Amino acid sequence: MRTFTKTYDHPLLQQRSLAHQRWLADVNPDVRTPRVVEQRPGEIVYEHLDGRHAGPADLVVLADLLGHQHTTAYFRELADARLDASFTSGGTTTIDGFVAGRRERLRHLLTSGAVPEPALTLEAVEGWLQKATDMPAAFYKDANPRNFLITDATVAVIDFDSLTLAPFGYDLAKLVVSTTMTNGPVVLETVQQALDTYNDHPRTRGLPGCTRRAFAAWCEFHHALTAPYLGTNGYRFGWHTARPGWTTDILRHPDEELAP
Ligand SMILES: Nc1ncnc2c1ncn2[C@@H]1O[C@H](COP(=O)(O)OP(=O)(O)O)[C@@H](O)[C@H]1O
Ligand SMILES: [Mg+2]
Repeated sequence: MRTFTKTYDHPLLQQRSLAHQRWLADVNPDVRTPRVVEQRPGEIVYEHLDGRHAGPADLVVLADLLGHQHTTAYFRELADARLDASFTSGGTTTIDGFVAGRRERLRHLLTSGAVPEPALTLEAVEGWLQKATDMPAAFYKDANPRNFLITDATVAVIDFDSLTLAPFGYDLAKLVVSTTMTNGPVVLETVQQALDTYNDHPRTRGLPGCTRRAFAAWCEFHHALTAPYLGTNGYRFGWHTARPGWTTDILRHPDEELAP
């Protein structure tokens, strides 16, 4: 059988990745992930999955998948989770909260000048982190285009190293920002359609979903957090040069849910 081996420098990171994958398989049993064939010290051996990385043409299909995953996870596990705390499932698997690590990282990036043309000030970032503490919990699993393997028949999700709680829409914003940084500006209607398609999942089950303003803010979080990787991982376009204008416009008008 063809396999794919991933190496780990630290046993704790390896164990966490396996625990994350188990948790995801539990909350999203209908979503394809690669079977773990073998674990060795410093290595996880997965079944090899065929498929290509995601591109702009996949955004709406993946938004549908993420909306489904997050809504299902909320109703199965995360309804009582708070984004400013970590969440422990079944007394074993711990998923880090949304706020703590990100606050320090964003503060550092924004104060050191590492983020080109940020559309959020440090105070605005703090405001969004505060708002997030009252939002329903979904998760972040680093939805960059290389963490999906797509064939004509299936979409598989891979790479379980990073998993944290996050507001609804946050991982979709990661997908949109990282796809844009890889391929250049995405058609405006596609982003809107992706957000609407995503939001259908939480909203048909009585959850608020992600507003356009919140989505724009989460895109700016990802801009700051991903800017240091520009020039690596296939990221050829800075979000500040390729982002849709409505995302910055809407953040300048705090009281309006402006239609882009
Ligand atoms: N099970 C797998 N089958 C086939 N290819 C894989 C598999 N797992 C990972 N890959 C390939 O390796 C790349 C990197 O793997 P990933 O787990 O995302 O590691 P990283 O931590 O480097 O992002 C993926 O984008 C994908 O192309
Ligand atoms: Mg990856």
